[in-house]
Amino acid sequence: GISDFGLIGLGVMGSNLALNLIDQGIQLSVYNRFSTDEAMVVPNFLKDQSLSQVLGFNQLESFVRSLRTPRKILIMVPAGKAIDSVLEAITPLLQPGDALIDGGNAHYKETSRRAQLMQGKSIAWMGCGVSGGREGARKGPSLMLGGDAGSAPGILKILAQIAAIDKAGAPCISFLGEGGAGHFVKMVHNGMEYAEMQLLAEVFDLLRPSLSYVEIEALFTKWNSGDSQSYLLGITSDILRTNSGNGYELDRIVDVAGSKGTGTWSAAAALELGIPATLLSSAVYARAISTFQDSRRSAEVSKQDLVKWDEETLEQLHSAYSFVRLINHIQGFQLINEACEQFQWTADLSEIARIWTEGCIIKSKLMEACQGWLAETSELVSNPRIRQELSNWEPDVAQCCQWGLQQRTPLSVINGAFNWWLAMNQADSPAKLIQAQRDYFGQHGYFRTDDPQRKVSFKWERTNGH
Ligand code: 6PG
Repeated sequence: GISDFGLIGLGVMGSNLALNLIDQGIQLSVYNRFSTDEAMVVPNFLKDQSLSQVLGFNQLESFVRSLRTPRKILIMVPAGKAIDSVLEAITPLLQPGDALIDGGNAHYKETSRRAQLMQGKSIAWMGCGVSGGREGARKGPSLMLGGDAGSAPGILKILAQIAAIDKAGAPCISFLGEGGAGHFVKMVHNGMEYAEMQLLAEVFDLLRPSLSYVEIEALFTKWNSGDSQSYLLGITSDILRTNSGNGYELDRIVDVAGSKGTGTWSAAAALELGIPATLLSSAVYARAISTFQDSRRSAEVSKQDLVKWDEETLEQLHSAYSFVRLINHIQGFQLINEACEQFQWTADLSEIARIWTEGCIIKSKLMEACQGWLAETSELVSNPRIRQELSNWEPDVAQCCQWGLQQRTPLSVINGAFNWWLAMNQADSPAKLIQAQRDYFGQHGYFRTDDPQRKVSFKWERTNGH
């Protein structure tokens, strides 16, 4: 073999990563599945890019043979069936010591299963979260690596060459732990991405009855010039500005949100791990609600109910926006922290924030701040500075929730953040009533405040129970 690195799958992400690898001077072999409708993918890629230093293959055998051993192969095919069929086809062609990296959005449990399966054959299986969409893949993505990297020295070095570069000059890649660690972290990234996107949609929804797109865009652009700077806020301004002359493109888009699964998985993982990542799950539900297009009817809002936007109210909205984002980050990192503990992953939270400061969809000034905060403490919410900030913003969020009610604008993520904050600051929670009910009908027992170590059950006086 003569190539240093192999890449399977020339879809949008695959072909852009290939170009990025070639830019770095890495001798590359590419392979795309050969079928009637895909026969031209490889020749077209080579022709379009007029690349001489890359070898293209339609046959898996010759592709594998073209690689120097121990082989290093990045697989960029859709998660699920496609990845398993690549794995089955390629395994007999490999030899012990070779390494495969799944760069798609696989479920972390699947990645962990595949890593174990391949370990038995002495082939390293890694799951790598790749964020940043097409641009990221081409110019430098954020890479979240997990799995059997220990058996594949050199992988991190090659991937570091194509990764985004953070402000301190370090590549946005990190090894996060065994099994599905990389894909877990990417999954939570996407859950946080869902919440950030939904938050922007809610702010837009609050403003649009009274402000024009031009005005909203100007507001977002202003926010984006300060501490609220983020990739998602920036692209939202671009979207609001897009007007072909006969109308806004936004107004031509069907109001039903798509999704490919990772957001839902992150919500399910939060439920499984018992972490109240309420914002990402609210965002998943909000997308689900949008699909009920037929049952949605426009709510009548009278002109008197509209919020009056002026400098002061817009500033309150800005504070509420910052509040919700901060809680989204607290929740997301808490979810990752719990997974690291349960699955014994080595990932460092500050390091995860660092590799998310460039290249990825949720990169922002706030993420840069998180990198610093997480270096001090893994529980962001216990940081007194963060608590103080959230307390300062609380009245503005309360106001914002009221505006939503007044104007009949659903604010799932904003309300969710406010509720989470209220509940997280409640010294005496009503959970004691839940415990009493459980004990009443199921004798589940409860702990008493005077002896919290001992579970007791009570003989409730049953006037209404059966
Ligand atoms: C990224 C994105 C990327 C992709 C998501 C979108 O980090 O580059 O998260 O992975 O855009 O899959 O997911 P939905 O299609 O579910 O919105």
